[in-house]
Amino acid sequence: DEADLQRHFDAVIAAEHRIEPRDWMPDGYRRTLIRQIAQHAHSEIIGMQPEGDWLLAAPSLRRKAILLAKVQDEAGHGMYLYSAAETLGADRADLTDKLIERKQKYSSIFNYPTLTYADVGVIGWLVDGAAICNQVPLCRSSYGPYARAMIRICKEESFHQRQGYELLMTMMRGTPEQRAMVQDAVDRWWWPSLMMFGPPDADSPNSAQSMAWGIKRHSNDELRQRYVDMSVPQAEVLGVTLPDPDLEYDPATGHHRFGAIDWDEFQRVLAGDGPANAERIRRRRAARDDNAWVVEAATAYASKHGS
Ligand code: ACO
Repeated sequence: DEADLQRHFDAVIAAEHRIEPRDWMPDGYRRTLIRQIAQHAHSEIIGMQPEGDWLLAAPSLRRKAILLAKVQDEAGHGMYLYSAAETLGADRADLTDKLIERKQKYSSIFNYPTLTYADVGVIGWLVDGAAICNQVPLCRSSYGPYARAMIRICKEESFHQRQGYELLMTMMRGTPEQRAMVQDAVDRWWWPSLMMFGPPDADSPNSAQSMAWGIKRHSNDELRQRYVDMSVPQAEVLGVTLPDPDLEYDPATGHHRFGAIDWDEFQRVLAGDGPANAERIRRRRAARDDNAWVVEAATAYASKHGS
């Protein structure tokens, strides 16, 4: 009966084994996973836009080839993640509709515009760096398909991070104007990158239960702190200043203290009022609607050929 199933589920979680699609799971566990995985998938797909904007203006063939590969990787990540959500009974087209109708979220970070090519580098370094920090522990998430998808995604994100850092290193060896461009991009992206980790633990309604279920392995604030500690020496090597006068190493804790995050800005962006929210959703809607005939044709073809 249900109590036995629940006991078995609890034992699997306690033993750090994996829950698989055909296993019994509590409704709340399933709902939470669909919510998080869908939000994650939407972020990958919407995240193609800010960098995709530079594909036709990349400064060299080499940079264009790298950026093209990277943006295609993000599409692949979105597809893996939608597949993982499907193993929980979700429907991909329905999830996309919910994104477009703003019933499901995607990462706040992708609601900021990319103003110069340095933004491509900074997204690789900081945004993908934050993504890795958040996602490496998810390789040990308790739900098998999600954890396994994360392994490949994290490998590709590491490549993305390196390409961003290498691009910035190249610009920093360039002209004073190029160095200023990098600093300006860092100034604009640093604070939003800290918001990627989600609200402070005390204001994070889902964390406690998600951690008890082994879906999340660390709290939002723990991962944010890890990211700050990781980024400070990288900024020094690069020769840029992180835009936080309160950023300071604390020898007592071995961590960097940092200034107050503007959580009002975070809430505004979540509510749909960030600099690029309307544009991101408008384009996603257009992609769905303009390409509906491809889906219809492919579906008709598949049903005729019995695949
Ligand atoms: N942007 C948008 N929404 C956010 C963000 C953010 N940066 N951080 C938190 N939220 C949302 C949560 O989804 C939740 O909303 P909901 O309950 O309506 O779904 C609400 O704010 C409260 O936050 P938490 O209770 O802390 O939510 P949760 O436990 O899901 O933690 C986190 C948020 C850390 C983002 C978690 O979902 C996670 O690790 N997700 C997987 C990683 C991911 O989605 N990355 C996407 C960006 S990285 C990339 O694509 C390159």
